[in-house]
Amino acid sequence: MSKTKQFDLASLLSEPLLLNTKNYINGKWQKAVSQQTYEVINPASGASIAGVANSDAIDAANAARSAKKAFASWQLTTHRERANLLEKWHQLIIEHTDDLACIMTSEQGKPLAEAKAEVGYGASYVKWFAQLAMQLRGDILPNSVPGRLQTVEKRPVGVVAVITPWNFPFAMLARKIAPALAAGCTVVVKPAEDTPLTALAMAKLAEMAGFPDGVINVVAASREQTAIAVDAWLKDVHVKKLSFTGSTQVGRYLAERAASSLKKLSLELGGNAPFIVFEDSDIDAAITGLMAAKLRNGGQTCVCPNRIYVANAIYDEFASRLVDKVAALKVADPFDDDTQIGPMINQKAIDKISGHVKDAEAQGGIILCGNIEPREGLFFEPVVIAEAHNKMALFSEETFGPVLPLFRFSSEEEAIEEANNTEYGLAAYFYTQDHRRIHRVKAQLQAGVIGVNEGAVASEVAPFGGVKASGYGREGSHYGLDDFLQITYVCEGNLY
Ligand code: SIN
Repeated sequence: MSKTKQFDLASLLSEPLLLNTKNYINGKWQKAVSQQTYEVINPASGASIAGVANSDAIDAANAARSAKKAFASWQLTTHRERANLLEKWHQLIIEHTDDLACIMTSEQGKPLAEAKAEVGYGASYVKWFAQLAMQLRGDILPNSVPGRLQTVEKRPVGVVAVITPWNFPFAMLARKIAPALAAGCTVVVKPAEDTPLTALAMAKLAEMAGFPDGVINVVAASREQTAIAVDAWLKDVHVKKLSFTGSTQVGRYLAERAASSLKKLSLELGGNAPFIVFEDSDIDAAITGLMAAKLRNGGQTCVCPNRIYVANAIYDEFASRLVDKVAALKVADPFDDDTQIGPMINQKAIDKISGHVKDAEAQGGIILCGNIEPREGLFFEPVVIAEAHNKMALFSEETFGPVLPLFRFSSEEEAIEEANNTEYGLAAYFYTQDHRRIHRVKAQLQAGVIGVNEGAVASEVAPFGGVKASGYGREGSHYGLDDFLQITYVCEGNLY
């Protein structure tokens, strides 16, 4: 029998303490009660990186109990105390950027330079919410009766369950955990099955920063056991809020299951973003914006353009200039210095991407560059497809990979109608140099995030989230803090 190949992550780290395979519950590193583990795989080579705790409902319930206990005192901490701990965590994250990026690239496969950028991006949310913790305040209302003092207090919602995806293993966690802690909530975290090591490293840095036991708890679980573990939180009346990023299908399931205990929900779900290039665009700027938006993380991003609408008048020129750029991208091992596209996350992802490209070709799409099959293992060369249309699967489904289908349009009305012709509404982008058009189009696009002559839109200062089947709730900005707070109105009567 052949022995599974091993990926030696420990030898790449300057701080070996960041490599953890046990759950972090109540300030202790613990094996799953069942003693089970599952393998975390390096997608570039298929080698095993580590066996990680494979938690079940008992571990999840232990984590929730610990978070509930910690909430009793954490909610009473001063805002300064929370801000200081978040600042300390931020500082440690920045100091350990290289190690965190190594861990992320090993288990997720994004190029190392992108992983480093993601650490900086995620850390910006920690810093931002450290600062917002100091600005949390309520209101004094106009009194409605003489002798009354009517005030509003903003209180933490309580224990929050955080469930995150594999595509941004660091940033998605940072932008959920940091506002939760700033608000005075405690958290139980279930990172994606494929990428638990980044989350466990973040927990280690939080421990080093000095967060009290039980404030942050992380449990890992395999794909098969995730539902069992998470179900323990869905049923638990002490878990007051669920913050989830992932597919619309799973989001719907979670919302249904969370309904019986009336949890507050933030759901950042699937996207099918349109990217419109009007005939009056600066074509170079549009191509730069498209490459940034579409090919970040190899196209495995909820906000990345899935449908590219190009005006007939510039279609051929745009396609040919785009192909020059896309065909030159380096697809290689994510640890190589100049790699721009690493491996996709797993075989299921490859099958979907390849399926979409084959379907598009069978329905008349013209492959301008790239291939219909993966190059080797989980590596897929970016594909530009001309003459895309609405009957192709990639029109209605999120491909989540490096596929750029070019649709034609002949009028502004048609472009807007087609852009909105989807159940999703996370992001939308458009390029034009006509100011009147900017205002007309912006007003009609149905999306939570809109990029106008800009492809890289996300930032800690901005609200991130969708409309329609892309979910609800916002992350980042001051709106992202509100999602972890509840309002209590206090009426003091007969004061004079
Ligand atoms: C996502 O699309 O999954 C997150 C992207 C971002 O934060 O920019």
